[in-house]
Amino acid sequence: MRASDRFLPGPVLGIETSCDETAVAIVAGGVVLTNRVSSQIPVHRRFGGVVPEIASRNHLLTILPTVQLALEDVGLRGSDLAGIAVTNNPGLMGALLVGVQTAKTLAHAWQVPLLGVHHIEAHCWAVMLAPPGTASGAGDEAQDWPQPALPCLALAVSGGHTSLYRLDGAGRTELLGATLDDAAGEALDKFGKVLGLPYPAGPHIDRLAQDGDPRRYALPRGLRNRRDVAMSFSGLKTAGRLAIEAARAAGCDLSDVREQADLCASYQDAVVAQLVNTTMRAARQFELRDIVIAGGVAANSQLRADLIAACDAEGRRAWPTPAAYCTDNGAMIAGLGSSLLHAGERDDPFTLDASPTLRSSLSTRKRQRDAARLLPGS
Ligand code: KG4
Ligand code: ZN
Repeated sequence: MRASDRFLPGPVLGIETSCDETAVAIVAGGVVLTNRVSSQIPVHRRFGGVVPEIASRNHLLTILPTVQLALEDVGLRGSDLAGIAVTNNPGLMGALLVGVQTAKTLAHAWQVPLLGVHHIEAHCWAVMLAPPGTASGAGDEAQDWPQPALPCLALAVSGGHTSLYRLDGAGRTELLGATLDDAAGEALDKFGKVLGLPYPAGPHIDRLAQDGDPRRYALPRGLRNRRDVAMSFSGLKTAGRLAIEAARAAGCDLSDVREQADLCASYQDAVVAQLVNTTMRAARQFELRDIVIAGGVAANSQLRADLIAACDAEGRRAWPTPAAYCTDNGAMIAGLGSSLLHAGERDDPFTLDASPTLRSSLSTRKRQRDAARLLPGS
């Protein structure tokens, strides 16, 4: 199968408002035509984290102008679209509702098919999109692009989630293991906050760690002696805070970037070691050769490099999601939406609802439908 055959050929609009980015993109045949992200990070920075009510209000202000800009980018009218996809779970409820309500209204007004998509499944599917710069309207084989072989293993690692999935197809994921407590992104952001770095701290830690000594502080590297592929970051989070407090008590000047660099390098090394070790264990255990990393933390340079090295050593193939599609974006929503619409999935613009939990995953909905078909009389 050619890569582009996984997608609807026509333009699909993707809307993402689950957290603090108002993001809109248009994807056609797996090629990203435009990818607009209106970030609220500066708005939330002074609170040290996302304030849900402020996020919803800002989504309300920016969503329609962002949709307008995306359409202008590609010279299309709303009624030209082949579909609209929107994140409807999981996320902050008020924030999700802005995107879902907008998508329902536009789909009804423009008379185009609508689909609610699962944010984490969309993160995992973003790697299937054409690499930036691929000519749009991919028609012949020469214009197609490489994709991981399915089934593959997907590590979804973001501010709110750290999970390992077996990825069988668009919206077809099976959970293999997850963190028992904090997400890796949350552990990075909290550590950075104690160190005095701006929110979100992940990218700052990534940058500072490049000049630091990862062996200066010994920090815990996850759960030992487990047969499953569970992870845990809460012990590391506490150990990181204690290391900062001990360094301060010992007279280290933590406003000095060299001191910050050693702390960041040591902490990041511990986070990445646990992610890579657990992912490789899962790949062996579930016999999956291709490994995708997705979500905001997948932008981390050490995680990308260490996973590629570990895969090379074992004859596996690493697929880090292109950096532009790691943190929250509309392209991943349009991408998964395009594949699912292509497979015949649809939602009703009058009844589609948002859910803050992982409950209404498409995989779950499919399983429920399959189960319903097996009931007598159905
Ligand atoms: O996927 P995402 O944009 O939002 C959620 O769905 O949560 O992920 C955001 C997370 C934040 O914790 C942020 O600090 C982290 O991704 N992040 C990074 C990097 N860029 C973003 N963490 C480490 N290194 C990075 N370069
Ligand atoms: Zn995300």
